[in-house]
Amino acid sequence: MRLSIAAKINFFLLFIFSMVLVFSAAYQAVRERDLILTLIKEQSREQTEAYFDGLNMLMLTGKMEARDTLRSKFMDHAHVEDARIVRGAAVNKQYGPGRETEAPKDRFDALALAGKGSLEVVHDDMHSRLVVTRPLLAKKDFRGTDCTSCHQVPENTVLGAVRFDYSLDTLFTRVEQNILTSALSLTTIFGLGLLLTLWVIRTWIVRPLNQLTRSIEEATDHHDFGKRLEGDEGDEIGRVALAYNQMLDSVERQLGKRADAQAEQDKISQSESTRP
Ligand code: HEC
Repeated sequence: MRLSIAAKINFFLLFIFSMVLVFSAAYQAVRERDLILTLIKEQSREQTEAYFDGLNMLMLTGKMEARDTLRSKFMDHAHVEDARIVRGAAVNKQYGPGRETEAPKDRFDALALAGKGSLEVVHDDMHSRLVVTRPLLAKKDFRGTDCTSCHQVPENTVLGAVRFDYSLDTLFTRVEQNILTSALSLTTIFGLGLLLTLWVIRTWIVRPLNQLTRSIEEATDHHDFGKRLEGDEGDEIGRVALAYNQMLDSVERQLGKRADAQAEQDKISQSESTRP
């Protein structure tokens, strides 16, 4: 490949940089998403509990008609897309069917009414959400409340479930923005680094090498061995320049000797020829 040293080194740096960028972005994406999910799962545990505690207070005080207000309060929380109670068959049987929103709607609701809670991220098309369900069982002593005193069911019957849907879109968009910002700053830093490397290669390698090449060309083309390069012992190229100077010295010395010998020879032959 006919490429300059600077181009080769820069290609190599570019390759390393792209690798670093891709891996760090992927790593950051995974880490940040994990963190967000951990936090929102924690939030969901607290909110499902708080929702049921609020609801239970309404049951105990006989104000269940006000439960829509409770629901709308939880719907107002950050990232909450939907919050509702799924009503179990036992409650429907005893108190009637309840609100339209309280009927089971999908497989998560059905699972919850079968006693199995969920904590699952669901992606549909461009939309991601976290679905959380927590089954509510009839207990004799649920933090001091006897559920079976009002709900006439055997213990551990599923009376219903709390269901929360959290929208993850804005959070994931924020992750993407973070990654974009850090990728841009990395690219800027790398761009500056690349310019600096280019400058360093130019001043410390390419320019002295060009001087050496020019000097060698002059010496061979014009038989001019008088010029010397500047150089010090500081680096490898400096040492090449010094070695080159020494070579020129030695060439000049050899040429001088030969010229002297030639002159001597000429003198001798001249004196011989002028002899009578
Ligand atoms: C003081 C009596 C009482 C107690 C104790 C009680 N409940 Fe209720 N519960 C009710 C009433 C009344 C309703 C509402 C019926 C209606 O009007 O639809 C209800 C409704 C429910 C619902 C459906 C809520 C809705 O929004 O549709 C669930 C689930 C439920 N109870 C679970 C429980 C659990 C679990 C316990 C034990 C911690 C419990 N209840 C204790 C009286 C009680």
